[in-house]
Amino acid sequence: MRLKDKVALITGAAMGIGEEIARRFAEEGALVCIADMNEKAAREAAEGIRRSGGRARALRLDVTDEASWVAAAEELEAEEGRVDILVNNAGITKRQPLTELPVEDFDGIMAVNVRGPYLGIKHIVPIMKRNGGGSIVNMSSICGLIGHKYSGESYIVSKGAVTLMTKAVAVKYAAHNIRCNSVHPSTADTAMARELFKDPAKKKERLDEIPLGRLASTRDIANAALFLASDEASFITGVALPVDGGLTAY
Ligand SMILES: NC(=O)c1ccc[n+]([C@@H]2O[C@H](COP(=O)([O-])OP(=O)(O)OC[C@H]3O[C@@H](n4cnc5c(N)ncnc54)[C@H](O)[C@@H]3O)[C@@H](O)[C@H]2O)c1
Repeated sequence: MRLKDKVALITGAAMGIGEEIARRFAEEGALVCIADMNEKAAREAAEGIRRSGGRARALRLDVTDEASWVAAAEELEAEEGRVDILVNNAGITKRQPLTELPVEDFDGIMAVNVRGPYLGIKHIVPIMKRNGGGSIVNMSSICGLIGHKYSGESYIVSKGAVTLMTKAVAVKYAAHNIRCNSVHPSTADTAMARELFKDPAKKKERLDEIPLGRLASTRDIANAALFLASDEASFITGVALPVDGGLTAY
């Protein structure tokens, strides 16, 4: 049990990559809190984990909204006494080029992908400090490492911000035994990608760019998050870990 008795808050965990991270963490003994703005799906995901013998609870959280974070942080600390792991996973994408992107859409993606992790860190780090430390895993993307030609620039801007937020937070809170690392997946088979793959040419484009020749599975990504969240990574902080089949290696 690699996360025995840890309490983990995972944002955007009602579906996709976040749900798989929650399942994986629960398999390793964590109590997982599935925090998502889709409350119904969050409850169903938590029930699924409990049916498989894991420990899970659901929480309504809009990561862009500070009041929502305050309520979530207070509820978790009051009822579980601690938060050992925060996974800032909730994220959205916009595919239009910057030259065609409405200002509201730019602000919208920054609100979820950048303000979300910032608010999570703002409200969960104090709880971690009170409990002697913790581990933060931020979900970035290959787009947080390179100017990926098939992705929207606004998404790249937002994920690049997550990469350096991770390093800055790692340095700032290391003295409190709080580690902070980021995970950088290439295209995974989730709702986000399935929409794109309605166009077979786009699917081929994405497969052809990956040296290992396949998409990332949500399990691949969850395993990387698990390692970084666990005590096995106790001397690893400020790291940007690609889970990309070699895409950013060339
Ligand atoms: N799918 C990919 O190919 C891929 C690749 C690299 C990185 N990522 C990143 O991984 C993360 C998860 O992606 P996914 O593909 O699983 O997405 P998804 O669309 O399948 O799921 C996203 C979840 O986040 C929730 N969410 C959205 N906005 C929210 C908000 N304001 N507050 C709370 N919850 C919110 C949604 O309700 C949903 O449950 C994102 O940060 C994404 O950028 C995805």
